[in-house]
Amino acid sequence: MARLSLHDLAWAPSPGQSLLEGIELVVGEGEFVGLIGPNGSGKTSLLRCAYRFHRPQQGRVELEGANLWRQSPRWSAQRIAVVLQEFPQDFGLSVAEVVAMGRMPHKGLLDGDSEEDQRLVDEALARVGLVERRIQPFENLSGGEKQRVLLARALVQQPQVLILDEPTNHLDPRYQLDLLRQLRSLGLGVLASFHDLNLAAAFCDRLHVLDGGRLVASGTPAEVLTEALLLQVFGTEALVDLHPVAGHPRITWITR
Ligand SMILES: Nc1ncnc2c1ncn2[C@@H]1O[C@H](COP(=O)(O)OP(=O)(O)O)[C@@H](O)[C@H]1O
Ligand SMILES: [Mg+2]
Repeated sequence: MARLSLHDLAWAPSPGQSLLEGIELVVGEGEFVGLIGPNGSGKTSLLRCAYRFHRPQQGRVELEGANLWRQSPRWSAQRIAVVLQEFPQDFGLSVAEVVAMGRMPHKGLLDGDSEEDQRLVDEALARVGLVERRIQPFENLSGGEKQRVLLARALVQQPQVLILDEPTNHLDPRYQLDLLRQLRSLGLGVLASFHDLNLAAAFCDRLHVLDGGRLVASGTPAEVLTEALLLQVFGTEALVDLHPVAGHPRITWITR
């Protein structure tokens, strides 16, 4: 039932402008959906609409059939967790304290951390391989470690849908693959933007391609990632064949 959908959605930074137009997108239960497109095509803006940050000027965002903007921010936060590109500037907070912030939507204003909260925090930190760093200051971690802490924070929120904006950007290849395998194994609905099209091809059930604020292609990676589309949208020649081991499309940019 945890189904996130965007219907005929339009959004722009200010009235009279247009950025996103006519967006139709569904994240089914347990489905891993990727969003790709050039810089400035509107990926971050679309994700912000999907997690109830930007209010659409037209159309609607629904979760479990309920219009997000007819529900409270807390209702959304109990069901949708977000991992953003920016790191919080929470100077002085420990790793465990940053992760514990993810419990907030499920608690009253004055509730302290319960044993159950602590257990969830440790479990999430173990999942991202950082449980031994729990008392260190968050600000001292590397970019990749911070990214994994933010995933742990999203996990303790116990969401039904996870939204991630370029989640692999700060990570080396091993942690890129670890993170994406973990995301897949969670069985949650995932909507994530990607710069690396080969990672998107390897992990996503379906892909949506944004160009100039419009979805220009949607389908499985094999349906979407054609040489013609890559030339049209990214303006770059590519060779597309099949990954020799995994069998998904493999993109080789032609650099000569
Ligand atoms: N709040 C905003 N105010 C003004 N311009 C914005 C705002 N948000 C996004 N934009 C503009 O919209 C375009 C798309 O941005 P963005 O959604 O960040 O694209 P992407 O994530 O694909 O790079 C960019 O040209 C960006 O400058
Ligand atoms: Mg972006």
